[in-house]
Amino acid sequence: MSETKGGGYGGKGRGSKEALLAGLRAADRSRKTKVDAAGPTPAEPAAAPSRRIKAFDFGELPAYRELRLHRAAADMMGIANPFFRSHDGLAGASSRIGNRDYLNFASYNYLGLNGHSAVDAAAKAAIDRYGTSVSASRLVAGERPIHRELEERIAALHGVDDAVVMVSGHATNVSTIGTLLGRKDLVLFDSLIHNSVVEGARLSGAARLTFPHNDWRALSKLLEKVRHDYDHVLIVIEGLYSMDGDVPDLARFIEVKAEHDAWLMVDEAHSLGVVGETGRGIAELAGVDPRGVEIWMGTLSKTLSGCGGYIAGSHALVEYLKVKTPGFVYSVGLAPALAAAAIASIEVMEAEPERVARLRRNGLFFLKEARRAGLDTGHSEGYSVVPIIVGGSPQAAVLADRLYLRGLNVLPIIYPAVPEKAARLRFFLTALHTEAEIAEAVRITAEEVASVLAAGSVLQQLGAR
Ligand SMILES: Cc1ncc(COP(=O)(O)O)c(C=O)c1O
Repeated sequence: MSETKGGGYGGKGRGSKEALLAGLRAADRSRKTKVDAAGPTPAEPAAAPSRRIKAFDFGELPAYRELRLHRAAADMMGIANPFFRSHDGLAGASSRIGNRDYLNFASYNYLGLNGHSAVDAAAKAAIDRYGTSVSASRLVAGERPIHRELEERIAALHGVDDAVVMVSGHATNVSTIGTLLGRKDLVLFDSLIHNSVVEGARLSGAARLTFPHNDWRALSKLLEKVRHDYDHVLIVIEGLYSMDGDVPDLARFIEVKAEHDAWLMVDEAHSLGVVGETGRGIAELAGVDPRGVEIWMGTLSKTLSGCGGYIAGSHALVEYLKVKTPGFVYSVGLAPALAAAAIASIEVMEAEPERVARLRRNGLFFLKEARRAGLDTGHSEGYSVVPIIVGGSPQAAVLADRLYLRGLNVLPIIYPAVPEKAARLRFFLTALHTEAEIAEAVRITAEEVASVLAAGSVLQQLGAR
């Protein structure tokens, strides 16, 4: 055998193993060079094939073939696919997957509000009143009172004039950035920014530049050089970095953007409900006036127990987006149950600030225990995200599999989501976890990391089989 059509690498025997190893080595080399060349910005798809492929044959796409190659290697190592695992119920500190209960560190139900009785009741009442869909874009027949109610709550939470909600967090970034910027403009984003920002910048047609992670000094220097080449400049940062678990120095970023006459956008997907004493995000933590930031962005999918995204800021910004941004204008209005769930989540969060405090204690406890066990937690500052960096995508996949077998549900984050040498396990902490659960998870992780790293590279292990 060896390779079958459609990117297959199945089969047994020496020939197939050699083909697999050769393919894996080539892919490994290409990943490493791509990271060096492109920096941490997500890489472009694999280079075009030299021979002609039939338009209909997706199985011949080089990127698809690489995918099959990795699956075949994982099969040979006996590693189950960690992605698309189906949970049987509500995912909290524990979750049931395939008739077994797992300690769960893979879900961003940060304050435990998804499944909260008041949140569930509000969503059900909204369905009773409005049904499951508003059946139109809000501009035409899709507007419901619950939309404005949610937008006013979000604006109040951020301390700005107004807000607009859209049906997806990812699409909110893509559509908003894609609308606000144009060919004569520049989007400058942190090197670890989320993919949705990169896609939005690409859509806008503006020039795109990254600055080193959290480095406002480097940003300032870059702006000194390039600011005069563009009309508008948008700087985009996150309130809590979703892969690394650290926060920016917001006050400094506000100074830099003011000095260089730029707009500042802060994505609070992971910081709302998590950062700041009452969970109002990075402005609360930094003690700055939220109006110093032109664009606050957030999602409804994490602390707010639903699905969707929002932009909060000045009246003019919100009014403009509501008639101009395609992700709002040409898309259905947010489902009433999701709007209701988000409003109820904000109410519980405000009424029970001890949830935010408990999450903070849990994040710090995990971080302390992990460091004590000698694990590499990168830049994490002990909020709701703590990575354990293991230095290679295959190692991260093997580790996630080993942890799963020992009852921990943790996902590997691999290239191209992060640079190859920064592949990791990412732990999401919630207010629901207990200290005993965290201590147990760290103990098991430290044992498995030591054992996997001692075994050498996955390529070496495969070769020795
Ligand atoms: C920083 C950041 N922004 C935006 C998004 C997209 O949000 P959603 O998953 O709600 O579409 C995510 C997703 O996790 C994210 O991490």
